[in-house]
Amino acid sequence: MILLSEKDIRQVVTMKEIIEAVKTSFVMMAKGECEVPLRTVIEHADGESAFLFMPAYAQEMDAASLKVVNIFPRNIDRGLSSAPGQILLIDGETGYISALIDGACVTRLRTGASTGAAFDALAREDCRKGALIGTGGQAAAQLEAMLAVRDLEEVSVYDINGERCRQFAEAFQNDPRFEGIVFKAAADPDECIADADLIATATVSARPVFDGTKVKNGATISAVGTYEPHKHELDPAVLPRASKIICDWRDAVLSESGDLLIPLSQGIIRESDIQGSLGDILCGRLPGRESDDEIIVYETVGVAMQDLAAAKLICEKARAAGIGTFWE
Ligand SMILES: NC(=O)c1ccc[n+]([C@@H]2O[C@H](COP(=O)([O-])OP(=O)(O)OC[C@H]3O[C@@H](n4cnc5c(N)ncnc54)[C@H](O)[C@@H]3O)[C@@H](O)[C@H]2O)c1
Repeated sequence: MILLSEKDIRQVVTMKEIIEAVKTSFVMMAKGECEVPLRTVIEHADGESAFLFMPAYAQEMDAASLKVVNIFPRNIDRGLSSAPGQILLIDGETGYISALIDGACVTRLRTGASTGAAFDALAREDCRKGALIGTGGQAAAQLEAMLAVRDLEEVSVYDINGERCRQFAEAFQNDPRFEGIVFKAAADPDECIADADLIATATVSARPVFDGTKVKNGATISAVGTYEPHKHELDPAVLPRASKIICDWRDAVLSESGDLLIPLSQGIIRESDIQGSLGDILCGRLPGRESDDEIIVYETVGVAMQDLAAAKLICEKARAAGIGTFWE
């Protein structure tokens, strides 16, 4: 078995590679080429934390995986990840566990890659401004993915914690990989999304985090944060304005995400307004963007196939490079 830490992972893969792996996993899901049961969620006694168990198997990859990822929203105040976890990668031939991989790191990368895959497939080519709401644990990978698929000139970020937001914008501004792009900490969500072509939300908010009437025509939105039926960070007002609502996995979103379940229960949208899964677009079964003016909403709750695809790629590249700790 090989043990792979965050440092190991970062040495062997790029965001662009993870985006391609995640796209492949979505296509496999759309074609029914893998087994992905809905995740098991056990609520913590504190009423806000949860233990999540996410299995997947793909014959074509000759591998299965199980991610244990635990949502502890208060961890951010202790300087810890709000989603600590590990991934077990399992060999399809022998059933042996072939790798134990830092699950918090893979979660960030594959969740960023989900947004990256959606923006790549659905956004206008000429996007100029990006907006990111929520500058916590998932945020850096969200922004890296956004910047990996479109040549942006400007990115505006907003968080209710102003100091965290300012430091986040400053860190990206000082990163030599992103030279030439202007990163700004916005004073409020309106300023953040004003004129934005790409909007990503990755917050733990139970209420909408921006005004859906202020989204500009032609924008593409990726809503990442909500995974519970009674919470929503996406303003329902944007949904009737959207020409397409696409999910990472329709069944999972319709079982978990208040971003769509709440507007459905209020009659703001109907189930038939939710066109399908991103994999349907990636394999050509559904059309992607059809005009420069349409607003497209992408809703993601995260699926275990993303973890399997990312874990398999990382493990193969680490073995090839001789990176990681071997445990006999
Ligand atoms: N879709 C997926 O695949 C996926 C994967 C991992 C995590 N998540 C979810 O993404 C969310 C964010 O995860 P994280 O690890 O970054 O959490 P985190 O706790 O590290 O950060 C959350 C951030 O949201 C900010 N925030 C809260 N309310 C806000 C508001 N109204 N406006 C602006 N900012 C606000 C907080 O100040 C904090 O900085 C969580 O709900 C998590 O469950 C989704």
